[in-house]
Amino acid sequence: MFKINENYLKLPGSYLFSTIAKKVNAYTAANPDKKIIRLGIGDVTLPLAPAVIDALHGAVDEMGKKETFRGYAPDLGYEFLRSAIAEHDYRARGVEIAIDEIFISDGAKSDSGNIGDIFATDNRIAVCDPVYPVYVDTNAMAGRTGDYIAAEERWSNVIYMPCTEENGFAPQLPDEEPDIIYLCFPNNPTGSTVTKPELQKWVDYANRIGAVIIYDAAYEAYISEENIPHSIYECDGAKTCAIEMRSFSKNAGFTGVRLGFTVIPKALRAGDVQLNSLWARRHGTKFNGAPYIVQRAGEAVYSEEGQRQTKEMVAFYMNNAKVIREGLAAAGYSVSGGVNAPYIWLKTPEGMTSWQFFDYLLETVNVVGTPGSGFGPSGEGYFRLTAFGTYENTLEAIERIKKL
Ligand code: MLT
Repeated sequence: MFKINENYLKLPGSYLFSTIAKKVNAYTAANPDKKIIRLGIGDVTLPLAPAVIDALHGAVDEMGKKETFRGYAPDLGYEFLRSAIAEHDYRARGVEIAIDEIFISDGAKSDSGNIGDIFATDNRIAVCDPVYPVYVDTNAMAGRTGDYIAAEERWSNVIYMPCTEENGFAPQLPDEEPDIIYLCFPNNPTGSTVTKPELQKWVDYANRIGAVIIYDAAYEAYISEENIPHSIYECDGAKTCAIEMRSFSKNAGFTGVRLGFTVIPKALRAGDVQLNSLWARRHGTKFNGAPYIVQRAGEAVYSEEGQRQTKEMVAFYMNNAKVIREGLAAAGYSVSGGVNAPYIWLKTPEGMTSWQFFDYLLETVNVVGTPGSGFGPSGEGYFRLTAFGTYENTLEAIERIKKL
């Protein structure tokens, strides 16, 4: 008789964004005449950049000809894309990353969920609280998080690093010693960031205690301030303790196209074992590569045109962020984020819980956001709005909220 992975049974409810989608669908079915504005999941609304579309068309044509057709992609991804990444994302910032330290994938969500494969089950993880749920849920699936304590909405074997108003939504070094530390800056969901000296503290700490940092830099393109690091490898010593993940979803609108990458420096070791080799083994065995046409589209993001066009997209979303931030502040809400990130984190009014505010907004003004408590216990009493909507919808949503 087969047995299931019982860790799945410990997971509370469904994935956060699936729960929200179900609630919104139920509301829409019951109220078909209402115009719902969705500022919940961080999904983009602008079409792909023209340079990306041209590259896709070109690659599709290549696939249609015998001479240029491609089958399976190389394990780590095509060299043309890995070279562009090494050049533009790293060398341009004074960081040397070799192309065999870059692994192309179908996105940072999969990579951050799958990376646990190369670590033992008895590693203890530390996460920011609130946190992108994928890090915790995938560790729960792997049996690394202990038991879920429903009353406290937390896992018994996870080190939570509260990110609250008091600490500017930036985690402090934990009292208990973790083996694996998940950091995401600019942060999802709070939109907070850390300066380079602050990030350096984490790198020094991880090197000192022998922990690994899983650094999710999916929102790097949204950094607008000078002293914020774009990559953890800008910090000294990061190559011996950090894995970095990036995505093309938010900087170039690839949420429906799927492309990302993970960097694992060869200097990152457990004894004499390189984590790079373990991930190469895992990648080669379980993944057959992002499609050729998509990797060509990714390469086009780094072209001169692609850079200009995708920067315009980011600027467009950041203008939405400004509309949300300033509009809500003018209406008396306490808001943060939205300066170096496409997320605005607001305090729910009048002591409402995050889910009460979710229902209230959905039912009274037909605006969908994400309840802060869905990201962890310290998210209770907060709410996240995304800047990825259309300009018109963003404006209308804020006008509706202001009238409440
Ligand atoms: C979010 O809304 O937090 C993001 O869209 C999730 C993701 O990128 O997977």
